[in-house]
Amino acid sequence: MKKVTAVLMSIFLSFGLAACGSTQDDRKPEAIDRMVESVETEPSAQPETEIPEENIDVNTEENSGSAEGKALVVYFSMPETSDPDNMTQEEDNSVVVIDGEVLGNTQYVAYVIQENTGADIFRIEPETPYPTDHDTLVDLAAQEQEDNARPAIKGNIEDLGQYDTVFVGFPNWWGDMPMILYSFFDAYDFSGKTVIPFNTHGGSGFSSTISTIAELEPDADVREDGFTVSRNNVQDAEPDILAWLSDLGYINQDADASALAEKESENTDGKSLVVYYSASGNTEEVAAYIAGAMDADLFELEPEEPYSSADLDWTDRDSRVSHEHDNLEERTVPLVADTVENWDSYDTVFIGYPIWWGIAAWPVDGFIAANDFTGKTVVPFCTSSSSGLGESGELLEEAAGTGEWLEGIRFRSGASEDTVVEWVNGLGL
Ligand SMILES: Cc1cc2nc3c(=O)[nH]c(=O)nc-3n(C[C@H](O)[C@H](O)[C@H](O)COP(=O)(O)O)c2cc1C
Repeated sequence: MKKVTAVLMSIFLSFGLAACGSTQDDRKPEAIDRMVESVETEPSAQPETEIPEENIDVNTEENSGSAEGKALVVYFSMPETSDPDNMTQEEDNSVVVIDGEVLGNTQYVAYVIQENTGADIFRIEPETPYPTDHDTLVDLAAQEQEDNARPAIKGNIEDLGQYDTVFVGFPNWWGDMPMILYSFFDAYDFSGKTVIPFNTHGGSGFSSTISTIAELEPDADVREDGFTVSRNNVQDAEPDILAWLSDLGYINQDADASALAEKESENTDGKSLVVYYSASGNTEEVAAYIAGAMDADLFELEPEEPYSSADLDWTDRDSRVSHEHDNLEERTVPLVADTVENWDSYDTVFIGYPIWWGIAAWPVDGFIAANDFTGKTVVPFCTSSSSGLGESGELLEEAAGTGEWLEGIRFRSGASEDTVVEWVNGLGL
């Protein structure tokens, strides 16, 4: 992660030369064409050996862009704290700490892209700063979405015309881009340019944001193969970002060869598994869609004693499920099999279940208890008539005690294949 130290240092070093936030009208003739985001904090003292010499001037050399021409990285990021110590869980979710520096998740991805493409960089900041208190921020984001708001952006991009490619990064907020991104796309015309989205998320991937951008910028080439990463994996995302940039053909000679090599040498045998319990077929349908999209194996959890329709009648206080619901000790449901062959070969495990009384149907509990999820990415999904995912994923994560759990998603009973596949593709797994 020393590379990021170098990026930060180079930004600080060149800050004195930066032309940022000026309008087209007050641009001086000698205006420097490089744009550096406004960083208000002072650089922390770093031992010189921490900064590889070859990277110090990454932000002052010519924009190397790529075969596609000059590139710009634009991003919005909302770190909820700047204190690397004593973070709440929510604050921790919103940031990554690199060499003691606290960066927003999307900010970090933006820096890695900037550093390895030699692109210019512009941070979208609201004229009225957002609150950093998590609950207040979450409520404000929802309100802005409901109001279809267009929060004003501080500063502007000088001469967007010089860029052929614009990487645009944002966190997923309530299944969409933060509304300030709509202000951004309203303000600039990307006709004839390539727009490459990237985002960070808590389990929803891109949602439908890429198609939204394509609608907002109909004359731009909006790439569908953007980069998306779960907030849980941002810290280790550099090799993935480099591999993605390399696939796109946007990478400069200063790119971190060792990180790229790390990615290339990764075991590519990692497979995906979709484990599910389904009483009446809805979750099974979604599981099959996920398996199709991920080229994953399927594993159905079958209770030794299957549930009959009468057993499942939750309106009957005397039915089997009602009894189990009312008596915790009756919720242990022996399964025909609770372990999967070649478990070690799977690095991603989807776990599906119907919602029963607001939580995961308990036949999945035996599977969770019987397996070690260490080293695996676990993605819960559920179907229900009306309830959301609620705490069902978190409760399973707690019960498992191991694995990198994503937030997961709830589908309505009878969700379409398109809806499910769009979600899977947006996960970036
Ligand atoms: C015992 C039981 C309890 C349920 N509780 C809820 C609930 O709390 N909220 C909800 O939205 N749906 C509830 N449902 C509906 C199921 O979650 C929904 O039909 C689901 O898609 C069934 O999935 P399956 O076909 O894979 O079993 C319940 C269904 C059953 C059988």
